Amino acid sequence: MTAAESSSPDRLAELSAQDLRARLSEALDLYVTAMRYPKGTAEQRAPMWLAHMMRTGWRCIGAFDPNGNLAGIAYGYRGSPGQWWHEQVRRGLIERSGPAAADQWTLDYFELTELHVRPDRQGRGTGENLLRALLAGATEGRVLLSTPEGPSRAWRLYRRVGFVDVLRDYQFSGDPRLFGVLGATLPLA
Ligand SMILES: CC(C)(COP(=O)(O)OP(=O)(O)OC[C@H]1O[C@@H](n2cnc3c(N)ncnc32)[C@H](O)[C@@H]1OP(=O)(O)O)[C@@H](O)C(=O)NCCC(=O)NCCS
Repeated sequence: MTAAESSSPDRLAELSAQDLRARLSEALDLYVTAMRYPKGTAEQRAPMWLAHMMRTGWRCIGAFDPNGNLAGIAYGYRGSPGQWWHEQVRRGLIERSGPAAADQWTLDYFELTELHVRPDRQGRGTGENLLRALLAGATEGRVLLSTPEGPSRAWRLYRRVGFVDVLRDYQFSGDPRLFGVLGATLPLA
């Protein structure tokens, strides 16, 4: 890649489930690298990503570097009762803020499930462009996501585009880490 190419913006494209299946190992490698997870995590997560593609409202945006390789990925779907993450977030909201707050956030929302940019392509706007492109196509009134407690580049990005605290220092069942659950009304400001 030339110096001009390496500093040029990444091209965004909406990916169908078929497109993502064809690039699944590349996408999972990117995810594991961006999150600094151990190598075996990719195989462990593959069935989950494949199952997510079948969910109502699933949409995915890919970012491509000048060589046509995947530089970033964002996907999500409509959050619904019975989904593990949905039930976990509702439980937390009911415990801490009551059923009205739980309803306000969880009756009509898009779950931003994954957002990752390859480390060598970070810091040029790709993450924010992916996030905005994905959410521009959502039909729900709100968006929710969870991210490990910061500070991190992800937190700065979410704050920059207007996400507010929904749950802080929250523990999902079976995961010792603390997470923030953040939300915003759609469309983003
Ligand atoms: C979080 C993440 C997706 C953000 O992606 P990104 O492409 O780096 O995001 P952006 O480029 O939009 O913004 C990152 C920084 O670049 C800056 N930036 C944006 N466009 C720029 C440009 N043209 N020139 C210089 N800097 C720029 C932003 O101001 C921002 O600065 P900051 O980090 O100091 O706040 C990425 O860092 C990542 O994959 N992290 C690891 C995985 C992760 O945490 N995912 C989220 C889990 S929920």
